[in-house]
Amino acid sequence: MIRAAVTGACGRMGTLIIQNILAAQDMELSAAFDITNIGMDVGEAVGSGRLGVPISDPADMEFVIKDTGTQVVIDFTIAKAAAGNVVRAANAGANLVVGTTGFNEEHKQQMHRAISDNSVAAVISPNFAVGVNIFWELLKEAAGSLDGFDVEIMEVHHNKKKDAPSGTAVKAAEVINNVLGGRDYVYGRQGIAPREDEIGIHAVRGGDVVGDHTVMFFGDGERIEVRHQAHSRQAFAGGAVRAAGWVMEQPAGVYGMADVLGLGK
Ligand SMILES: NC(=O)c1ccc[n+]([C@@H]2O[C@H](COP(=O)([O-])OP(=O)(O)OC[C@H]3O[C@@H](n4cnc5c(N)ncnc54)[C@H](O)[C@@H]3O)[C@@H](O)[C@H]2O)c1
Repeated sequence: MIRAAVTGACGRMGTLIIQNILAAQDMELSAAFDITNIGMDVGEAVGSGRLGVPISDPADMEFVIKDTGTQVVIDFTIAKAAAGNVVRAANAGANLVVGTTGFNEEHKQQMHRAISDNSVAAVISPNFAVGVNIFWELLKEAAGSLDGFDVEIMEVHHNKKKDAPSGTAVKAAEVINNVLGGRDYVYGRQGIAPREDEIGIHAVRGGDVVGDHTVMFFGDGERIEVRHQAHSRQAFAGGAVRAAGWVMEQPAGVYGMADVLGLGK
């Protein structure tokens, strides 16, 4: 049995990931971390019934990981918190699955250093849905065939999402720019803003939208749109728990969801 802990346990994603761990044949919930409901039984906090696993303070993470024999930590929190959580979990020797988005360069360096210094394995992805990973592959192919087309990216998310643009939209821009090269990113437009050789990125927020991403390639007299729509957070939670099983079999290093799915080999 793989012993898995969840950080951000009381959040929208954390709650669903706990349900997925409980349903998995080869995994059990070893610990839960959040900054709310500390000390409360996590099952009671997230409506899954008593589980006998208390919500722990993230500040105690190294001790709790060792004390509970946690082997993998799944983090869906916020960028600033996640970077610290990754360092603590790696220091305690746990493997990692990181779904949190909105990291800056400093966060990324901090996490990569801790993962490498402690020789643990981590899957870090702004999107764990299988379909989104295929979407990124399709963008790669489209960008390679549509040189000279204008590219615009639009993402739509629920009104509680904190970071913008989404990690998935940023990765879509990176995937396209890796093929086309050298394009600047323009985030929304206002005032006099003539279009140059850029990738436009637009974040729309409202209601309870789980996550829509559309990439538009505009040519002369035509356009192609590549779109992914997530109907349920289960698409992400299922992928994250699958990644947690997979990462336990890997040598130390940092991986993406494409590696878990065996894409691009
Ligand atoms: N990679 C993916 O597939 C994917 C999919 C959906 C969401 N996300 C990302 O996951 C993150 C969480 O999304 P959400 O909708 O569940 O947010 P949420 O606000 O519902 O949940 C975040 C939880 O983290 C907790 N938290 C805050 N600081 C913490 C800390 N230091 N230690 C432990 N817990 C802490 C909060 O109390 C809250 O319960 C966001 O960055 C979001 O963009 C990624």
